[in-house]
Amino acid sequence: MARARDEAFWRNVADQYDVEPGPTNFEHGYFGRMTREVLRTYEQHLAYVNRSNSVYVRQRFDTQDSEIIREDLARLLGVPSEEIALTRCASESLQALIRNYNDLQPGDEVLISDLDYNSVQSGMRWLAKTRGVTLVEITHGHPASHESLLQAYDDAFAAHPRLKLMALTHVTHRTGLVMPVQDIAAAARSRGIDVILDGAHALGQLDFDLARLPVAFAGFNLQKWMGAPLSLGFIHIKKERLQAIDPDMGDTRYAPDDILGRAPYGTPNIPALMTLSTVFAEHRALGGSVVKGARLAHLRDLWVREAREMDGIDVLTPDDPRLYCGITSFRFNRHADQALMARRLLDEHGIFAVTRDGSACGPCIRITPGFTTSADDVAQLTEALRSLA
Ligand SMILES: Cc1ncc(COP(=O)(O)O)c(C=O)c1O
Repeated sequence: MARARDEAFWRNVADQYDVEPGPTNFEHGYFGRMTREVLRTYEQHLAYVNRSNSVYVRQRFDTQDSEIIREDLARLLGVPSEEIALTRCASESLQALIRNYNDLQPGDEVLISDLDYNSVQSGMRWLAKTRGVTLVEITHGHPASHESLLQAYDDAFAAHPRLKLMALTHVTHRTGLVMPVQDIAAAARSRGIDVILDGAHALGQLDFDLARLPVAFAGFNLQKWMGAPLSLGFIHIKKERLQAIDPDMGDTRYAPDDILGRAPYGTPNIPALMTLSTVFAEHRALGGSVVKGARLAHLRDLWVREAREMDGIDVLTPDDPRLYCGITSFRFNRHADQALMARRLLDEHGIFAVTRDGSACGPCIRITPGFTTSADDVAQLTEALRSLA
């Protein structure tokens, strides 16, 4: 896509953000910066809610505005608003789905992989222990291919006929690998296995159709690639499967057929929620996930193309365009300690990135560009890799 390579266009986008001077940031995977306009709107809402207090919140926000925000989000996602409940983050969403899933019988099995997020893995381990079901843990081979990923799940499904529920991560935080979610979830569905999808890194950088994914349960946040204020997430449950998720902690505020009772109770960050209409407008104006994702993947390609040719560097995330997005991990293969190498990237080259481990491909350094990253920043990264390799 030509727009993804248009540095002048992205310089204008970058100009919409305030950036603290310091190292070049290649760790935009933690959370996204808000644009200046989103920040300004957020600050205004914060000041207003602080001034008006419960007079506004009880009379307008709780009764009308929160519903308008939910409808806005549902429109963006292309699903009915009755399938959405707002939460405070992806972990909260996913853990609520896991702990309230009620369709398990003794002897059933539940599945996680080495690429799932830690809070999902621990949640599923807890589920197995407390419900007396068996946990199946699979490890994906390295290097991964579209076929090997599908095969790993097919093998697990065949070996474990009592599988009832599985976690699936759309984009793994360990290496940025994008799972063939559509095919894996379809295979699971054909065997009657429910999927809880972790969409934390997918929303805002991958173009996917939530309504058409054969996934009944999913958890997301809004602060990564949507650029919303911190502290927002949501649960998606397909209407016809709502009864498989119990109201959270016996919630009685809502009718049994209302998804809102499935979200953990608590006073939300109201000013942050009020900012979402601005966030969604900016997301659309930029071209949505298609354009944002293409830019991030282009920045990734710029460094990976060079790094693949460097002695001393193993790029661990595959180059199959179906299997990567903006995030990619690598390893200095002549150096044992990747944490030390990440430190040297920072100290000697002014580049900030983090290490990740826990997957079959071993410890690695994760490179995550963002919307303020330029081609020049990537050139600085490739020079640093060449020098340290
Ligand atoms: C794949 C994945 N899942 C879940 C989460 C948790 O998101 P949150 O911080 O919104 O709980 C993260 C956060 O980095 C993630 O990368």
